[in-house]
Amino acid sequence: MSQSFNRGTVEDFGRWREFSAGMWAWIFHKFTGWVLVGYLFTHIAVLSTATQGAELYNGTLQGLEALLIVRFLEVGLLAVAVFHILNGLRLLFVDLGVGLESQDKSFYASLVLTGAIVVASIPTFLGGKLV
Ligand code: HEM
Repeated sequence: MSQSFNRGTVEDFGRWREFSAGMWAWIFHKFTGWVLVGYLFTHIAVLSTATQGAELYNGTLQGLEALLIVRFLEVGLLAVAVFHILNGLRLLFVDLGVGLESQDKSFYASLVLTGAIVVASIPTFLGGKLV
């Protein structure tokens, strides 16, 4: 038996308050996926300084790591990457028909695990010991 839902109009942005766990999972997955694509360009730009010698490359990295804002952004990047990976693996299981009845729980588990990994990373990133 199929079920029908009243999803309202797409243009009504106020609907975010009614979003289900699945909708948030969808939004977060899209957001994190495209942030990772955006980061890829930054990553290539930084790495490509190595083509002009180790000195410039090391200087670029040290210059970036010396900035507190960069270290904060790294924590954010880790959060984005870890969530995308965990939720992505969860989605692949869902595609295989595994855990269909507990999708909300597995989404919350991805969030909690992401949070735990990110919190554990904070001393390393913000400590700036790598500089
Ligand atoms: C282990 C690593 C990763 C896993 C398991 C993973 C998993 C997935 C899965 C399953 C989807 C499809 C979701 C759906 O059914 O709609 C997806 C979408 C996507 N992923 Fe990943 N992914 C990974 C890494 C990455 C990386 C490194 C990038 C970027 C460089 C990336 C960018 C994207 C983008 C842009 C989408 C499409 C988002 C959209 O729906 O608009 N992913 N990922």
